[in-house]
Amino acid sequence: MESLKFQPLQAAMQQDAERKAFPDYLPHLPEIPAGRYCDPGFFKLEMAAMKHSWLFGIHGDDVPQPGCYKRWEQLGQPLLFVRGNDHKVRCFYNICRHRGGPLVLDDKGQKRNISCPIHGWSYRLDGELAGVPERRDFNEADLQRRSLLEVRCENLGEMYFINFDDKAMPLLDDLGPVADAWMLYQPENSRLVSRHMLTVPANYKIVLDANLEVYHVNFVHPEIVAKFLDSSASTINLLPNGHSTQASRLRQAEWNESGIDLPRVAEVTDISRLANVAVHMYPNRIIAMNDWGYPLQNYWPVDEHTTQVEVLWFAPRSDVPQSDALWNEVAATFINVLEQDYKFCAGMQTAMTSGANRGVLIGAQERSIYHMHEEMDRRIGIDLVPAHLRVRQVLNQRQAAA
Ligand code: FES
Ligand SMILES: [Fe+2]
Repeated sequence: MESLKFQPLQAAMQQDAERKAFPDYLPHLPEIPAGRYCDPGFFKLEMAAMKHSWLFGIHGDDVPQPGCYKRWEQLGQPLLFVRGNDHKVRCFYNICRHRGGPLVLDDKGQKRNISCPIHGWSYRLDGELAGVPERRDFNEADLQRRSLLEVRCENLGEMYFINFDDKAMPLLDDLGPVADAWMLYQPENSRLVSRHMLTVPANYKIVLDANLEVYHVNFVHPEIVAKFLDSSASTINLLPNGHSTQASRLRQAEWNESGIDLPRVAEVTDISRLANVAVHMYPNRIIAMNDWGYPLQNYWPVDEHTTQVEVLWFAPRSDVPQSDALWNEVAATFINVLEQDYKFCAGMQTAMTSGANRGVLIGAQERSIYHMHEEMDRRIGIDLVPAHLRVRQVLNQRQAAA
């Protein structure tokens, strides 16, 4: 990805640092209606649209061997990832095709085949129905159509994504330049080193917005992030399909790695020392890229005013042994930063529901937020969004790079 090369990035950040006024390459950004953050009808439209988007599922390390499985239960969808004997990772509904019993109750494990604990129907690891106790009670033709329900699953290296829409564009086409950027960090050679889940009492977009800009850094993180990251020297790329990147100049390199010598992806070390590179992938995830490892945050809506934030850390695979304690410390430091962001979210949610605050104002360096909202209306269908809740399509997919 051209914009993630060292010199263009350095020049673009410097240009932003020297900017004295609202950039002339950007249109005026109208207010975003507050109802988009709290209206139950709008939330339903969003959730329906989200099921046509690519969503993060699991990392390959979650199911390392044939027969390993991992449950996934976001957006009210009970799913099960399974690695088959052919080593392929598949995603099924965790729903027995007899009367809908849950096939597994534990979060993860390993089985030779998948059998329902209620009446003992069993399925092969590729989802095919394998056994039915007292088979004589069923019509054979009915049983021919009772394999597990499969959900579309595609991957970028060890990162497995799902989409409930069989007609959606392929994962790599949807991610486009974001996939190119991520590939620089070698996701095929990554390992999963930690997973945490936080609950925040606010709409998922309020929580997501908090990490879609660095304008807040000097005020919310004066002791940690602000010492290292220069929020006034930042370059944003608004990309197709609602995705975006933001690179912010580092005042000093290696700001958050505990001073320990970690294995690195050498090809991106110069970029990692120059800038904090955040990648937002529509609809609900952000990565802050580093050569020594990176956190992926998935913002999962629970209802219109509750969010679960899933934080997964990935690191380059290496033969050098590393202690869990090290990665626990890295994850704890990062979560400490996130909690500084999230402590304001409940108050912002109340502002949206109060009726006093009719809309929010977005500045130039927060434009990734506006870009995401525009994409959301396009995915819902602009005509389906009530007029008072729509955002005006002013950025549209313009490549507004600075
Ligand atoms: S519900 Fe699974 S075997 Fe009956
Ligand atoms: Fe923050």
